[in-house]
Amino acid sequence: MLLKQTMLTAALALALCGPAVAQSTGPGDPEAVDEDDGRYYDADGLPTFNIAEDGTVDFPTYSGFRRYHAECHVCHGPDGLGSTYAPSLVQSVRQKSYETFVEVVVNGREHVDSGNRNVMPAFGTNPNVMCYLDDIYTYLRARAQGDLPRGRPANTEPKSDTFSDMENACMG
Ligand code: HEC
Repeated sequence: MLLKQTMLTAALALALCGPAVAQSTGPGDPEAVDEDDGRYYDADGLPTFNIAEDGTVDFPTYSGFRRYHAECHVCHGPDGLGSTYAPSLVQSVRQKSYETFVEVVVNGREHVDSGNRNVMPAFGTNPNVMCYLDDIYTYLRARAQGDLPRGRPANTEPKSDTFSDMENACMG
């Protein structure tokens, strides 16, 4: 009886997960299941956000908000919403994998059609982006999930010592 139930649960879980995985190559459930000194990870070990019930935002996500608006928003629009020149990154992180996100930001991309030439610059050697790539990703993920409203987060967790150490080491 117990075994049967377990198998049924497993089959149900597969049936529920199957179509979602097949339809999209975006990341899975963004729920944070792991925390390492203020940085959060989902069940797949991908960086994710953590927003408390009172709206307090984890520090890396807040950092991502700041870096996004310093480096990306001129083309991709405020709050990740896209512009006539560059696509919405809120949409993009819903549909594409973390690896794709990293690859495009590091190497850049160019899109040329009849009348237009749209260029995504390569940021691979820019520490203001590379040192904060996971932060930007978690910020966009929170926006994509609908858990983070537009604009500057009002309350944030404090910056951890680990974050400061990694930041100093990365920025050199
Ligand atoms: C100079 C303008 C510009 C800036 C600045 C810029 N981008 Fe882009 N980005 C683009 C354009 C244009 C595209 C679309 C390229 C294409 O159609 O192939 C793009 C595409 C992308 C994509 C792929 C989206 C998809 O779904 O295919 C990602 C991810 C991305 N940008 C991330 C970033 C991040 C993160 C930053 C800031 C660190 C940034 N971009 C800054 C212009 C820019």
